[in-house]
Amino acid sequence: MTTLTVKLGERSYPIFIQPSLLTQGNQLADYIKTDKAVLVTNDLVDPLYSQTVIDSLPGNKIEKIVIADGEQHKNLASFEHVITQLLSMSAARDTTLIALGGGVIGDLTGFVAASFQRGMPFIQIPTTLLSQVDSSVGGKTAVNHPLGKNMIGAFYQPKAVFIDTKTLQTLPAKEFSAGMAEVIKYGIIYDKAFFAWLEQNIAQLIAQDVDALQYAIARCCEIKAEIVAIDERESGLRALLNLGHTFGHAIEAEQGYGNWLHGEAVAAGMVLAARAGQMKGWMSKEEVQRVIALTEAFSLPIAPPADMGYQTFMQHMAHDKKVQAGKLNFIVPKAIGDAVVTSELDETLLRSLLN
Ligand code: NAD
Ligand code: GLY
Repeated sequence: MTTLTVKLGERSYPIFIQPSLLTQGNQLADYIKTDKAVLVTNDLVDPLYSQTVIDSLPGNKIEKIVIADGEQHKNLASFEHVITQLLSMSAARDTTLIALGGGVIGDLTGFVAASFQRGMPFIQIPTTLLSQVDSSVGGKTAVNHPLGKNMIGAFYQPKAVFIDTKTLQTLPAKEFSAGMAEVIKYGIIYDKAFFAWLEQNIAQLIAQDVDALQYAIARCCEIKAEIVAIDERESGLRALLNLGHTFGHAIEAEQGYGNWLHGEAVAAGMVLAARAGQMKGWMSKEEVQRVIALTEAFSLPIAPPADMGYQTFMQHMAHDKKVQAGKLNFIVPKAIGDAVVTSELDETLLRSLLN
């Protein structure tokens, strides 16, 4: 088992990573302080893993809230539904919420936990690759508004994160690839050696080799924990985690949420960011080629939809959370393993990049 810590003083918490963690003596019970806990999941993950989690907590009374699967349900209606269910179960502020599922369930449950009676404890059990390497760690919680993704939310840290890498065996290949986009992201923004390791372990990762997966997920969580410990509320360093997301969110919004998976849009966005880095004279042509090749190796898109040009991107990006003082900020790699936040992508560069 790999155990990492997100170091945030009295709000520090562990991340446990191991195949079959949910069935083999996990420490979940140690993080539930009252008799009752409430499991929040969706109707796809529920039949796969809920009972395993419940069985691992024989000393607790576990109630369950199941919402419909899909990004379209990460909204205020689901938020209200979960709150209503909690009230009808007489949940209290010391009841622990357990989020079992991908990033949608984790983000929604975390936001409920942040809000219900001004805050209740919650635990993340992420079951997609994306949620295991990114969304379950770091305390960003949110639901979407019809006018924008993740527009309503809070920073609220979980008490622990339990990552059972074996749950990925039931994940559709397309979802696994989408998670790989976030894995590649860590190499580009922070760790050149990890990027090279990924290049050397493509086949092992696609085959979900136990050791390769354990290493990759642990390295991503380690990087994320390090970044969050330095900059929990994204006043600087943490923004690097948004590599590819400014372009990616525009693609998701234009195509309609769910038509392009988040990770797929991020992949195309990361390639655009790498090309922007080359246009700035930072990234070499060979490095951009390596980003493209690694992205492609995991069956991810390396370009936005053909019908999306400069104007369409700009319309969507104007709403981006990274707009500050009227200026759009982009995360741009200077080299593989080193990225910066910059507002200095001028119109000429953006037109040439996006048209
Ligand atoms: P998701 O939660 O929609 O999961 C993808 C699909 O996989 C869903 O259909 C889900 O039911 C299914 N699924 C989950 N686990 C499974 C399993 N083990 N086997 C089979 N199917 C399984 O999507 P996601 O990619 O996990 O997360 C995307 C969401 O995460 C977005 O809403 C995004 O905004 C958010 N996000 C948040 C952060 C953060 O820091 N909080 C970071 C990145 C992304
Ligand atoms: N996924 C971006 C962040 O957690 O900051």
